[in-house]
Amino acid sequence: MTKDFFIALSQNKLLNKGAKRWGLKLGAQSVVAGTNIDEMINSVKDLNQLGISATIDNLGEFVFEEKEAIEAKEQILEVIEAIHKEQVDAHISLKPTQLGLDISYQFCLENLREIVHAAYQYDIFINFDMEDYGHLHPSFDLIDELSKEYDNIGTVIQAYFFESDENIKKYKDFRLRIVKGAYKEPDHLAMQGKSDIDKNYLKLIEYHLLHGKFTSIATHDHHVINHVKKFVKQNNIPSNKFEFQMLYGFRKEMQLELAKEGFNFCTYVPFGHDWYGYFMRRLAERPQNLQLVSKQVFNK
Ligand code: FDA
Repeated sequence: MTKDFFIALSQNKLLNKGAKRWGLKLGAQSVVAGTNIDEMINSVKDLNQLGISATIDNLGEFVFEEKEAIEAKEQILEVIEAIHKEQVDAHISLKPTQLGLDISYQFCLENLREIVHAAYQYDIFINFDMEDYGHLHPSFDLIDELSKEYDNIGTVIQAYFFESDENIKKYKDFRLRIVKGAYKEPDHLAMQGKSDIDKNYLKLIEYHLLHGKFTSIATHDHHVINHVKKFVKQNNIPSNKFEFQMLYGFRKEMQLELAKEGFNFCTYVPFGHDWYGYFMRRLAERPQNLQLVSKQVFNK
């Protein structure tokens, strides 16, 4: 019930639009690394000093106007320039709907091509985040098309989808982030039970660790992390074949601990004005995150 409530809030267009004018509110500053590039780069430098790399998300999704998609593209191009200029250890995560996938496939493809090309010049990797099921196949089509020209792209496999078993095989030669899945999906497309999702999650991670190019294990779940630690040891998976990822502001001590233990660790660093949908999805995943929020709100 709480999950549905926050997912519904995350998709509310009026609130999403309004929040862009509010600045970071409701405690979002604990999980969003600022509203501009300078603030974000400073956060990335802090992480790098701790031995942690970053994947940078210029927040935004479900864009329906060309002007807005072009603005998002320009901002991401600026982030690519900033990564190069500041020589930070970071790459980009983006959402195809932010670049106009709901406007037209071709328009989105051209925006993405420009971004991937710019990043390619500097050897910067671009991850295509995966959104809800309605955008899954168009996003894979974009990746298929762009990977004919560029090898600096990868994507996400969401373990809750029944079809993820096929997709992980199809995309085994890509750098993949594997997650449980964050959106509300119908039961004919996606598993609903936590234990089923967790089981499939481990299966997909193991498959890609053994057969894939590079695996980003993106989770805050210590059971999964402990399982992976054992699995890589038992199977002699070299450390340059995988990394752990967590979201900015979550389980900070564990992020540091994993980096100190010598594992590659990458923090997902969201920034920008369009923080609202992202923030509500985090509350949907784990209502306990509200504690984090109330601390921020009342410590003012
Ligand atoms: P889950 O929420 O299942 O929690 C399992 C257990 O871990 C909990 O019971 C608790 O014990 C512990 N735990 C979890 N969070 C904790 C916390 N904050 N503090 C203490 N204990 C905690 N989704 C998507 O659909 N598309 C995408 O592109 C991405 N991208 C992405 C990138 C990164 C870097 C991450 C970390 C996640 C995503 N996701 C995503 C979100 C993902 O699909 C999933 O919804 C969330 O990560 C929540 O699931 P977890 O695996 O983290 O643990």
